[in-house]
Amino acid sequence: MKVAIFSAKAFEKPFLMAANQSNQYALIFFEAALNEQTALLAAAFPIVSCFVNDTLSAAVLNILAKNGTRFIALRSAGFNHVDLHAAKNLGLTIARVPAYSPYAVAEFAVGLMLALNRKIHRAYNLVREQNFLLTHLLGFDLHGKTIGIIGTGKIGTVFAQIMQGFGCNLLAFDPYPSEACLKIGVNYVTLDALYQQADIISLHCPLNNESKHMINAQTLTRMKPGVILINTGRGALIDTKAIIQALKNKTIGSLGMDVYEEEENLFSQDLSDAIIQDDVFARLLTFPNVIITAHQAFFTREALTNIAVTTLKNIQAFEHGTLDETLVSYPNDN
Ligand code: NAI
Repeated sequence: MKVAIFSAKAFEKPFLMAANQSNQYALIFFEAALNEQTALLAAAFPIVSCFVNDTLSAAVLNILAKNGTRFIALRSAGFNHVDLHAAKNLGLTIARVPAYSPYAVAEFAVGLMLALNRKIHRAYNLVREQNFLLTHLLGFDLHGKTIGIIGTGKIGTVFAQIMQGFGCNLLAFDPYPSEACLKIGVNYVTLDALYQQADIISLHCPLNNESKHMINAQTLTRMKPGVILINTGRGALIDTKAIIQALKNKTIGSLGMDVYEEEENLFSQDLSDAIIQDDVFARLLTFPNVIITAHQAFFTREALTNIAVTTLKNIQAFEHGTLDETLVSYPNDN
C-alpha cells in the first residue's frame, strides 16, 4: 500500500524507513508541506502522513478524500491543525502519535528556562566577543522559587518531576489533575492563583477554543513582575502582540518560545536569504530576553524513533481495522 509522507525531512526518513521493517508499505516522501497547492500529489494514495505545519483544512481534506485518501497518520501529538469536523464528514480517519517522548519536550522547556534565567544565550556571544564582564548576566536561584505549570498531562508531569529536583514549589492548573503530580506534591490551584504566584510559568496544555490566547493582555497583568514564561505547547496559546507589549513595558522578565502562532509561514524552512515579512515575529527577535526556537522541543533520537514506529503501527492498525479510534477525539456534532 502506498503512503504519501508530507513535510518529509531528511532527518526523519531513516527512522521511518527503519520502522517500515519488512518494506510492507511503499513510503513516498514529499519534502513539500501539505496544503491546497500540494494536496493533489496525494492522488491515489489511500494513506497520507503529515506533520505539525501541514495544512489539514476542510479544503485540503476535501481534495484528499475526493482523490482516494482514507487515512491520515499524523506524525505529531497535537491535532489542532486538523479540521476534525470536515474529516468526520468526509469519512477520513485520523490517528496521531499521542506520546513519543514527553522527556524530549519537558527537558527542552527546562533548557529554555535555564538559558533565559542565567542568560546563557547572551554569555555565549559575549565570551566569543572576548567580553568577559558579568554585567548583564545576573540570574536567580531556582531553588525555592514557584513554578506554575499549565497542563499536567504527559509532558507537564515530566516537567513537574524535573522541577521538583531543583527544589521548586510546584503549582499547576489542569481540569484533570495528574496522580503522578499529586504524588510529588504539586499543588493544583486556579489559573488566577497560578498567574499571581508563579515566578516561572510553563505551558503544556493543548491548543483548543478554550486555551487560545489564554496568555493575553489581561492575564499578563495578573502575573508577577519579572515572570519567566515558557511556551513549548502551541504558539496560539499566547497572544503574541500582547506579549510584545508586556516585554516592552517589562511586565514579564523573559520569554522562551519553541512555538509561534504564525509558525507555518516560517519554521521548517531555511529563510536565511529572505526578508522576514512577519513584523510581529521580527519584533520578537529584537528582545535580548527572548529565546525563540523553531519547534524543536520534540527533536531527539528517541522521539523520532517513537514517532516513526507509532506512525507505522497506526497505518498497520488502520489497514487491519484495529485502530484505537480514541487516539483522536472527534467532535460530537456532525
Ligand atoms: P497530554 O494530552 O498528555 O496533556 C495535556 C494536558 O492538558 C491534559 O492533562 C489536559 O487535561 C490539560 N488541558 C487541556 N486543556 C487545558 C487548559 N485549557 N488548561 C490547562 N490544562 C489543560 O498532552 P502532552 O503530550 O503532555 O502534550 C501537551 C502539548 O504539548 C500538546 O498538546 C502539544 O500542543 C505540545 N507539544 C509540543 C511539542 C514541541 O515539539 N514543541 C511536541 C509535543 C507536544
